[in-house]
Amino acid sequence: MKPTITPIDATFGATVANIDLANLDDATWKIVEDAFHTYAALVFPDQHLSQEAQVEFSSRFGDIELLRDDPNAKAVPISNQNPDGSVLKPDESRFKSLRGNEGWHIDSTYMPLAAKAGVLSAITVPPEGGETELPDMRAGYDALDEATKTRIAGLSAYHSLYQSQARLGHIVQSGTSYGYHNKGAPLRPLVKTHPVTGRKTLYAGRHAYRIPGLDDAEAEALLEELLEFTCQAPRIYQHKWTPGDLMIWDNRCIMHRARPYDFNQPRIMQATRISGDPASELAATGQDDRASGFEPSATNR
Ligand code: OGA
Ligand code: MN
Repeated sequence: MKPTITPIDATFGATVANIDLANLDDATWKIVEDAFHTYAALVFPDQHLSQEAQVEFSSRFGDIELLRDDPNAKAVPISNQNPDGSVLKPDESRFKSLRGNEGWHIDSTYMPLAAKAGVLSAITVPPEGGETELPDMRAGYDALDEATKTRIAGLSAYHSLYQSQARLGHIVQSGTSYGYHNKGAPLRPLVKTHPVTGRKTLYAGRHAYRIPGLDDAEAEALLEELLEFTCQAPRIYQHKWTPGDLMIWDNRCIMHRARPYDFNQPRIMQATRISGDPASELAATGQDDRASGFEPSATNR
């Protein structure tokens, strides 16, 4: 059985059918890996993978990032439902993390080692909303005018989860959980060269917040402008989930966000994340002395 790869109507992305991710031979894996590099995001309908099968498939791409301070947290539910079936309340911290996912982001850029890829599969989806949207930051970079390309060429931004969650009024306790950086926020170039394809790509999102050499208002305006410019057709794909779908995106060149939905409806997704390669995804450690103590504010990028 050979997979059928159908490009999505956007600058990136493909749907892969005629494949069983729970039983992947090496030849088929090679086709998947090549397609991942060519299309940067892949949708596999009708897979219904168990946690173990999703971890095994994800491990083909590299080391699995632990999504909590728990060696067993290789596949975690991204869910608004408690084990007893009740739905999270707005003041619960997990609810605030879910709301954070509704802002444009690249996974784990606030950690020293950013993610290589994100994998998400759908178990229970709400009748409306709850889609996942992905913009192509390579195409975003390519479409910039030359003056902007020149302006951003040497710039870097700090990335912090404390900062991005504070924008939602959520104060993440430092030192206790996932997302902790203790030596200043990671500093990452705004333009990244993809380690496999060599393509240049914008690299920012909601965790990015301050640019050395620019004053804060100017940095904020620039980050905002780059996001707004990038996140438009034909550079964007919105995935409407059907239970059993699995999607993988290349966090080195594709951003993403969840779309809102009625929070009284359960939405249960299963996530795995693949660690970046230290040669290309390890950040310089920033010296931002204001990296802690972020005040809650009302904006959400
Ligand atoms: C993630 C994420 C978005 C969604 O799993 O990293 O941001 O649609 N998910 O749930
Ligand atoms: Mn994410």
